[in-house]
Amino acid sequence: MNSEKIEIFDTTLRDGEQVPGCKLNTKQKLIIAEKLDSLGIDVIEAGFPISSPGDFESVSEISKLVKNAKVCGLTRANKKDIDTAAEALKYAKRPRIHTGIGTSDSHIRYKFNSTREDIIERAAEAVRYAKSYVEDVEFYAEDAGRTDNEYLAKVCEEVIKAGATVLNIPDTTGYCLPEEYGQKIKYLKENVKGIEKAILSCHCHNDLGLATANSIAGAINGARQIECTINGLGERAGNTALEEVVMILKQHKDLNFHTDVNSKMLNEMSLMVSDLMGMPVQPNKAIVGANAFAHSSGIHQDGVIKNRETYEIIDPAEVGVNDSSIILTARSGRSALAYRFKHIGYDITKNELDFLYQEFLKIADRKKEVKNDDLYMIMETCSRKIG
Ligand code: KIV
Ligand code: ZN
Repeated sequence: MNSEKIEIFDTTLRDGEQVPGCKLNTKQKLIIAEKLDSLGIDVIEAGFPISSPGDFESVSEISKLVKNAKVCGLTRANKKDIDTAAEALKYAKRPRIHTGIGTSDSHIRYKFNSTREDIIERAAEAVRYAKSYVEDVEFYAEDAGRTDNEYLAKVCEEVIKAGATVLNIPDTTGYCLPEEYGQKIKYLKENVKGIEKAILSCHCHNDLGLATANSIAGAINGARQIECTINGLGERAGNTALEEVVMILKQHKDLNFHTDVNSKMLNEMSLMVSDLMGMPVQPNKAIVGANAFAHSSGIHQDGVIKNRETYEIIDPAEVGVNDSSIILTARSGRSALAYRFKHIGYDITKNELDFLYQEFLKIADRKKEVKNDDLYMIMETCSRKIG
């Protein structure tokens, strides 16, 4: 059976850039946008054009530069925002306006001091207005994660009638559980009249560490676009991590989905974004962390040396990492030591290994990690002792 495509919508340059202290200039944004385009991203959210002249300029320049992906600009549900986004996107080959409004009772009451009926009117009006500029209009129902499903379905129905091509269902506060978020998508798929005219999109925040799980639950229940950022960057605890979504869909053939992302570029993409944004990636970050393919305990190292698949579900080459790494620590065993000696050109016998291993343990007990320099020293000390 042919697998279904999940569109990847990258918002590193908009939601990702909302991280405190991570401001990028236009030149840096262009470098990232060009790389995202070559990575195979379907939609690049380039910014929020009305938010500042700098953001306007970035969206405009990215629109001129990007060859394949759709380029998207964010707006609130008002004419001025939409006029500004349309102007910034005018050079894009495939422009998309992303407009929307808060739909949860808390947003309606505290942010807008409004009513459910009024919000529906404002939402539909914004979509109609955006549609007068571009064919491709995505609507976001902010705080959809905490919006009552029946009301959310009414909002979706009205914005589809107004011409929305994509319905973004954000879990803005990262509150939902995967089952709950999946059921929300399923409910909309089954209850919104005209839903076949639009695609549902997942936009999940990571406040409870569930952003990726929620996005995958959304796809399983009918969403066909996932919004995410490189390294999971974004407000507070961040957004769904792009590299995680891509690799889950790639590794889990049972889900029968695919993306157009070239996974072999994920590691370099992650390093580039981390450098330009000055945001180090945590070492244990899934897929792109420095330790994602590093093995340090003796039992795991022995297994991986015999066959990589004993402790790795992804071939590091699939994400652009050269090799699994065998880290030497006091928990490492003889096979790891022999493996690392072999890597620096020493083929050692079993007897030699017993001897070298005792020297190795002395150093490993003092240091966090035994490096190649230490191995040369161990070899020299032992050769002298052996004579
Ligand atoms: O998290 C959110 O609700 C958003 C919208 C503006 C799309 O980022
Ligand atoms: Zn968001």
